[in-house]
Amino acid sequence: MPDTVAPTGPLNRPSILLTGATGNLGRAVVDRLVERDVHVRCLVRGRPAPRPGVDWVAGDLTDPADVRGALPGVDAVFLIWPLLDSAPAHEVVKELGAAAPRVVYLSSTAIDDSAPRQSDPIVQVHADMEVLLRDAGLRPVVLRSDTLASNARGWAAQLRAGDEVSGPYVARTAVVDERDVADAVVAALLAPNGHLNPGPHLLTGPTALTRADQVAQLGAALRRPLRYRTLPAASARARMLADGRPAALVEALVTASERRPESHRVTDHLERLTGRPAGPFSRWAADHAPEFD
Ligand SMILES: NC(=O)c1ccc[n+]([C@@H]2O[C@H](COP(=O)([O-])OP(=O)(O)OC[C@H]3O[C@@H](n4cnc5c(N)ncnc54)[C@H](OP(=O)(O)O)[C@@H]3O)[C@@H](O)[C@H]2O)c1
Repeated sequence: MPDTVAPTGPLNRPSILLTGATGNLGRAVVDRLVERDVHVRCLVRGRPAPRPGVDWVAGDLTDPADVRGALPGVDAVFLIWPLLDSAPAHEVVKELGAAAPRVVYLSSTAIDDSAPRQSDPIVQVHADMEVLLRDAGLRPVVLRSDTLASNARGWAAQLRAGDEVSGPYVARTAVVDERDVADAVVAALLAPNGHLNPGPHLLTGPTALTRADQVAQLGAALRRPLRYRTLPAASARARMLADGRPAALVEALVTASERRPESHRVTDHLERLTGRPAGPFSRWAADHAPEFD
């Protein structure tokens, strides 16, 4: 069960519940909302250090009672669903439906709206979540994100050991800076009077990139001749398991590697939400280079 929930802020100060607040994207969302003097409540599994302007509420996203306990007084919820199964979301979404806050859901650009089934379990979960939220009458604002630039942090250990990143084949997509996505999330959460086109808003970076392109751009920022080596599925599986990733996630990533199609789609939806164009991966690489040395 969550800790005691602090009272919400003054009437003119929106109160937002964040999920995934300790993650790569969530941390950037918290920073932006705190800067905007929004009352921020975060449902978290751990015990983050106290931070002015943030109420950390202990709870698990998959536990409906925890979610219910975090909802009183909340105007809007930023929802992620970081699991490989949407089944536990049914009861959680019922809680959201009962409290009826505005919901901004972070989904995936890899969804193919014309397909009866999605390419892989990760994309299928996002498609299922969108349907669940709509069926609950929540009219969620759906932000479909392309591959987050911050996924590159997963290469840090390999790049501290050498100049090569090895991993599965990953189809080219328009990798997007998580800070830009965070700006779009904040724009959606704080839309005047809650009025915003429900979307889906397709949030992409400015250029479709392969993993080799990304590693080369990281190398330029680090002034090192870095390269990406694509492994066959069996070796990629072994590599990801050795890196300590959970077996179910590894299987989902191997399936994604085999089935997810290339995408050259680049949109201006992010700019329409934030007023600024999406930044290139080279900017992300330059800003985060010290994390890889
Ligand atoms: N990465 C991408 O390329 C991409 C693309 C499209 C959409 N998305 C969506 O965006 C989400 C956020 O991405 P990210 O890169 O920021 O992920 P991330 O860094 O892995 O962060 C995941 C967050 O979810 C929290 N979490 C996981 N299980 C939880 C549970 N049972 N109860 C409460 N919190 C839980 C984690 O908390 P702990 O600190 O407790 O682990 C963490 O804060 C993804 O989960 C995915 O659904 C991602």
